Amino acid sequence: MSDTVVVTGGAGFIGSHACKALAEAGFSPVTYDNLSRGPREAVLYGPLEVGDIGDVDRLTAVLRDYDPCAVMHFAAYAHVGESVSDPLLYYRNNVSGSVGLLEAMRDAGVTNLVFSSTCAVYGVPQRVPITEGHPQAPINPYGASKQMMERIIADCEPAWGLRAVVLRYFNAAGADPDGDLGENHDPEPHLIPNVLDAALGRKDGLTVNGTDYPTPDGTCIRDYIHVSDLAQAHILALKHLLDDGPSMALNLGNGNGYSVREVMEAAERVTGLPIPWHVGPRRPGDPPSLVGDATQARRILGWTPGRSGLDVQIADAWRRRLHELQAPQEAAVAAARKTA
Ligand SMILES: NC(=O)c1ccc[n+]([C@@H]2O[C@H](COP(=O)([O-])OP(=O)(O)OC[C@H]3O[C@@H](n4cnc5c(N)ncnc54)[C@H](O)[C@@H]3O)[C@@H](O)[C@H]2O)c1
Repeated sequence: MSDTVVVTGGAGFIGSHACKALAEAGFSPVTYDNLSRGPREAVLYGPLEVGDIGDVDRLTAVLRDYDPCAVMHFAAYAHVGESVSDPLLYYRNNVSGSVGLLEAMRDAGVTNLVFSSTCAVYGVPQRVPITEGHPQAPINPYGASKQMMERIIADCEPAWGLRAVVLRYFNAAGADPDGDLGENHDPEPHLIPNVLDAALGRKDGLTVNGTDYPTPDGTCIRDYIHVSDLAQAHILALKHLLDDGPSMALNLGNGNGYSVREVMEAAERVTGLPIPWHVGPRRPGDPPSLVGDATQARRILGWTPGRSGLDVQIADAWRRRLHELQAPQEAAVAAARKTA
């Protein structure tokens, strides 16, 4: 069997880390990405095929050409707020585009899929930690787009033999521990990179979106999971499929929730810098608390997330940020310390 894996969205944050993990595990990753939200420079492991998942002819040709044993499908838009203001963009890309991918897989005879889903499929949880059996009631178009894809993927199994491991991530964070890869979103929607840039004085303080949530300190609680731990889970899910394991959906989180204030405190510990911040409005579509129960992924896949302590995740992201900023960074830290 081929050791090639086509990785849609391989230029993105999680996809690029998955490509590294694939290469280290002896697979041959091929990135398929339109580079709309991920940089070419993040494709360090295996070839890059520039293309859109909605371009079924091109994608079918790429799949026929490489004859992969599986597809890992990361390509999507993933900003909750943007999905609320422009839902059709999300349904077009995440649903129509992904249907294009499934058509290409069917036509090229590729029947193994690892799919990036999200805790946003659950909506506002009735209980935490959230297990896979928790009712799904997404409260934003982004979560709805992923829920629709989960359903569509499930419908393809009896129809033409698609088998899939659906991975519902909580909040991906951190960066490659070797410093080879990081997070490159513009604008950056995720908390930890924004906290670090606030520490460096690279933005006018951190905006904390809501301090009046029904949580102990009033700020939103999230479950942060290291991107390299997520990448490892993808390797295990792939091997599960290649060993003829059944289709399933699994949560990937670390099981501990941290509030925005706790993340800021941890970042102050890691960087030694204060985090300037101010209160902003709640973001539409943001549930107060999302914490996952990943017992099934640990039990079925044998997954052991080793880098998902909060301080470790922030330290890896911090190291990568310093690396990206290179020499001027030293000056920036010194300047931030002086004005602190
Ligand atoms: N980052 C998180 O915390 C998180 C949490 C849960 C789920 N997810 C899911 O994980 C996946 C990856 O997230 P990420 O944070 O790495 O996102 P990202 O934006 O960094 O990467 C997505 C990549 O997909 C590419 N892409 C987007 N639309 C495309 C299209 N139509 N055709 C080809 N390429 C396209 C982009 O150029 C980018 O390189 C997404 O499906 C996202 O919904 C992410």
